[in-house]
Amino acid sequence: PSRRPALLAIASAIAAAALLASPAVAVAAPPEYTPGADGAGDPYFPLAGNGGTDIVHYHLDLDYTPAPPDPAPIEGRLDGVATIDLVPTQDLSRFNLDLRGLTATEVTVAGKAATFTQTSNELVITPSKKVKAGKAAQVVVRYGGTTTRPTDIEGALYGWVTTRDGAMVVSEPDGSATWFPVNDHPTDKATFSFEITVPEGLVAVANGLPSRPATTADGRTTWYWDAPDPMAAYLATASVGDYVVNQYVAANGTPIFDAVDPARLGAPSESLALTSDMLVFFESLYGPYPFGSYGAIVDDDSVGYALETQTRSFFSRTAREGTVAHELAHQWMGDEVSPFRWADIWLNEGWATYSQWMWTEHRGGQTAQASFDDYLSIPADDEEWELVVADPGPLGLFLNPVYDRGAATLHALRVRIGDEAFFDLAKQWVERYGGGTASTADFIALAEEVSGAELGDFFDIWLYTPEKPTDW
Ligand code: ARG
Ligand code: ZN
Repeated sequence: PSRRPALLAIASAIAAAALLASPAVAVAAPPEYTPGADGAGDPYFPLAGNGGTDIVHYHLDLDYTPAPPDPAPIEGRLDGVATIDLVPTQDLSRFNLDLRGLTATEVTVAGKAATFTQTSNELVITPSKKVKAGKAAQVVVRYGGTTTRPTDIEGALYGWVTTRDGAMVVSEPDGSATWFPVNDHPTDKATFSFEITVPEGLVAVANGLPSRPATTADGRTTWYWDAPDPMAAYLATASVGDYVVNQYVAANGTPIFDAVDPARLGAPSESLALTSDMLVFFESLYGPYPFGSYGAIVDDDSVGYALETQTRSFFSRTAREGTVAHELAHQWMGDEVSPFRWADIWLNEGWATYSQWMWTEHRGGQTAQASFDDYLSIPADDEEWELVVADPGPLGLFLNPVYDRGAATLHALRVRIGDEAFFDLAKQWVERYGGGTASTADFIALAEEVSGAELGDFFDIWLYTPEKPTDW
């Protein structure tokens, strides 16, 4: 039998297919609903944050019981209901939230049950009805599990860190997923509110201010917090402990809420008492304090660690004066203006460290110039100079040069463009990028704009050349 008819049939089928595919005869295509990306696009932490959604508000209803007095290992129990208001930025067939080490048990989208799966870092949610770009939707995630003492890629404790009497919650850079479902990247800031229920006798301290007095029933106390200033997820906290609370109003009018571990009411409180003066000083440098409240959490559990959790900085038992100034300065530099990518971390740490240098000078100690000179006395063959501070890599985020060479860069810039342009730049930086994120390129551009100087070579030498700057 001849094969011809079969070949003809194939040929005409191909022709028909071609016709169908040609735009001239195409019927209106159905809208393309596609999955949101599993990351925000930050090369250092590819799975941090997500694509396709812009989260506007998190309401975290948490129920937590820390470890009994003497167990090993230290573990707690956390159950949560996260109510998340978001706006899809694309037509979504499904989308992700970051969630690590805790198990989701129920998810709804716009009031309807959704199906979901979990991988080690991602909660993948498929709504029963597709979700349209721009149409606000509320997502509710019920979740829970055993809390431990998570560590970051450097091996440092972070996230929801279970302690014997509560939890210290410090999530930089990507630890928020250890305690709530989240778009865990600074490019998706949101407002937060909290309802945290803990055993009676413990205090739960989050960002912002109490929205109503705590309530107690059946041996458990619920603490209510409202944090209305948009916040990067890594700056959220909900630390739990046997805290002594101290509330007052600072000289600039900012309400202060401090929570201090009773075992640590000595030296840290002396440094914390300088907060009011520091607020006045940093307002003179950077403009009005950007948030509606401030305060500190001093926890007994860690030594030396501190974090600029928004409106409520976290300190370990040491909390020295320089660190108190550093974390307060971060409220402008890091919290109000946050890194666009984690590679931009020197903008956080350089500014906070330089703020410390300036505070020391203001207090009658060593001048910022002397701190700079000290730093520049490190020999050229020291490994201090081998890091590219504006691209330190995910393991280099918190290495010393990010802090000190970052600060020295700012001091050298100040000398180069003069005090007037430098402090104008500092204020304009906060004004222009406040509430959002900004990159190193944005900073260089604004420095050139404000000063009128050509600064490409200067920043190349200071930020991008892994050698000791000698001539700039
Ligand atoms: N941003 C904090 C500070 O310098 C430091 C966080 C350190 N984090 C770490 N994983 N080592 O104020
Ligand atoms: Zn810092």
